[in-house]
Amino acid sequence: MKLGVCYYPEHWPEADWADDARRMKALGLELVRIGEFAWSRIEPSPGEYDWSWLDRAISTLNAEGLRIILCTPTATPPKWLVDQYPDIIPWDANGRLKKFGSRRHYCFSSPTYRRESARITEALARRFGDHPAVVMWQTDNEYGHHGTHESFSPDAARSFRLWLQCRYESINALNTAWGTVFWSQDYRSFDEVDPPNATVTEANPSHRLDYRRFSSDEICEFNREQVDILRRHSPGRQIAHNYIGDFTKLDHHAIGASLDVAAWDSYPIGLLSEGDDNEADKAHWLCYGHPDFAAFNHDVFRHCSPQWGVMEQQPGPVNWATHNAAPAPGMVRLWTWEAFAHGAAFVSYFRWRQVPFGQEQMHAALLTPDRQDARALVEIAQVAGELGAIGKLESTSTRVAIVLDYPSLWQHEIQPQGRAGSVLEMARTLYSCCRQLGLDVDVVPQGADFEPYGLVILPSVSILDAGMCERLRESGATVLATPLTGSRTGVGHIPMSLAPGPFSDLLPMQVGVFESLPPFAKPRVMAGGQLFDGSLWRESVKSTAEPVALFENGEPAWLRNGQVHYLACWPGELLLMYVLRQLCQEAKLEVREIGRDIRLRRAGNIQFAFNYGRDVIDLRFVGAPEADEDYLIGAREIGGAGVAAWRI
Ligand code: GAL
Repeated sequence: MKLGVCYYPEHWPEADWADDARRMKALGLELVRIGEFAWSRIEPSPGEYDWSWLDRAISTLNAEGLRIILCTPTATPPKWLVDQYPDIIPWDANGRLKKFGSRRHYCFSSPTYRRESARITEALARRFGDHPAVVMWQTDNEYGHHGTHESFSPDAARSFRLWLQCRYESINALNTAWGTVFWSQDYRSFDEVDPPNATVTEANPSHRLDYRRFSSDEICEFNREQVDILRRHSPGRQIAHNYIGDFTKLDHHAIGASLDVAAWDSYPIGLLSEGDDNEADKAHWLCYGHPDFAAFNHDVFRHCSPQWGVMEQQPGPVNWATHNAAPAPGMVRLWTWEAFAHGAAFVSYFRWRQVPFGQEQMHAALLTPDRQDARALVEIAQVAGELGAIGKLESTSTRVAIVLDYPSLWQHEIQPQGRAGSVLEMARTLYSCCRQLGLDVDVVPQGADFEPYGLVILPSVSILDAGMCERLRESGATVLATPLTGSRTGVGHIPMSLAPGPFSDLLPMQVGVFESLPPFAKPRVMAGGQLFDGSLWRESVKSTAEPVALFENGEPAWLRNGQVHYLACWPGELLLMYVLRQLCQEAKLEVREIGRDIRLRRAGNIQFAFNYGRDVIDLRFVGAPEADEDYLIGAREIGGAGVAAWRI
């Protein structure tokens, strides 16, 4: 468990570097990430490298014993490169070319950019690959950010056609897979196929789904090219990428397969402001962030690569959200401990010193622009002091899994059948309810091994892999699926057996009608003698299986076959908690009613508790010890933003 920071030596007078390094070390930081936007200073003109400043910066940090995470600078190609090769620029969906002047102005499919990305990566790797201070590499920065997960350039079109040719081999197979007979879209050859943008009305959904897959694969390949070069020239160093939280436009599992470390960038308060939570929740957690935002992403990225960490942790107000509140005192420490409790190898803060120029002037840092300590610094010092009390954290085997499948998320974005609800939101709601029952949760791909789990949840996984259903059956786990599960085939068609497709092998049923409903229309569900609200989605289901609960019209709302369960509506929170309590009892999982603000996480034989609310909480209600001396961190009573840890 290491602490780190993102540092931009190129932004500051060289005279400050040694003191910066000294202060970082004194604070207890061990890792420093550098270089991800420094291309124009590394190579100011074509082929003329200036390594001198980077040599000196790395030596200065190394002199304090700090270890370096060195980044490839490909998120910001310099002006001369863009002018020399205009074909590296990405095209948006309206066919407009992006301009130089911010960042991420490149197309993943540009052969020129692939060559240039390989060239600068190799130059860096040759220069610093065996430097003793360099312990990790970061490829690029936040793939897909600012809508760059897709480009509609001529290069992208060319590459897409080749991708389609590999996937379908014959144009007739593509025509069948996409159902091109609909609206007279038949193609005679792969050369006729374009990206699915700028059409009069919505483009063919299978075409769009394949474009999403293709775009994610392009990023995967771009990343792999850098990884191969880094492995060649920098043996023994770990390779990471820093993903964006709650960002599902790329397949993290596929990209993560070639990495050692899946890192992600955690901005809980910024993302709460940008998210879909209701106003009351946004007000309640304004300075705390949603209690499940960071944890959910930790539990996603833990399953993408052998190790994971937080590459950028919000340290104060950000500059980019609709509203930019400051974290409540204590939150930076809390977020750090929550990450470690979930198994993070490191937490690195963004950024060392607030920058008085450029786009992110108003973004907080650990130092103010004039180099005074900013508020987060005290909290980080506290965590650094506490690390020793905790020692090495072991992982615990989690008994609940939620399946997250990227093509299913994309399929639902392409054909949502109305404006209400998303698959990610469904997954997050289920995750939140499990956490409110004190459960630890894994968020896993369809290919996961389900043997360790007592409860596996399929949150509207529309494109189901039949093999997964078989493995679920063999695992003996209790299974819960929500509407739209199994509702599409791999190419995005309704299965001929109708929804839930292969899931009906586990629970014999067929979905007739799927409805999306406005927020004021609440389907009522009678379960266990109580009336609950559903919302947003309702299905009309035929089944020979036992209905556990009915809608008011007498149709099944909750079905079961042995330990396999299906909900035919988007459950309101009360209904969902009710269902989960029943299922946990069935799966012999111990639950604790911990409410809205407290969250628990177990790591080996250490139990953590986090207070995301304002009130002082006496933790004995979650089984915490009486005596304050039994706590490794905190005490029996923790206030807002408090953390406690004890041995169990
Ligand atoms: C991240 C990005 C950083 C910085 C930060 C500001 O998305 O990787 O470079 O822009 O946001 O919050």
